[in-house]
Amino acid sequence: MAYSEKVIDHYENPRNVGKMDADAPNVGTGMVGAPACGDVMRLQIEVDDNGIIKDAKFKTYGCGSAIASSSLATEWMKGKTLDEAEQIKNTTIAQELALPPVKIHCSVLAEDAIKAAVRDYKEKQAK
Ligand code: FES
Ligand code: FES
Repeated sequence: MAYSEKVIDHYENPRNVGKMDADAPNVGTGMVGAPACGDVMRLQIEVDDNGIIKDAKFKTYGCGSAIASSSLATEWMKGKTLDEAEQIKNTTIAQELALPPVKIHCSVLAEDAIKAAVRDYKEKQAK
């Protein structure tokens, strides 16, 4: 199976790989796994006082498409509000990366991770 150029680019030069302090009050962490293949993705956001995502980081233990999907997701999340970030769809990620059908679940993982990170942040704020 051939990866698209965009997948290879993100895979070889992943954006925003890293880790934030999951205990920090302004950080939201999403950790999700794909039942289909066992791959795991951690996505974190740092949110400013105006509810804008000012930074995003990820670490993905998985295939090239999952790494590319999470790399792209962090790029797209920066500068967005939480609500806007939640609107990022796996279909848009899959389209941007030209993922083949067997790799669609890799982009679903990224959407799930985004939602989980936002949820985690909101739960912290509600406390
Ligand atoms: Fe996910 Fe290959 S099946 S890494
Ligand atoms: Fe399972 Fe990509 S996340 S093959």
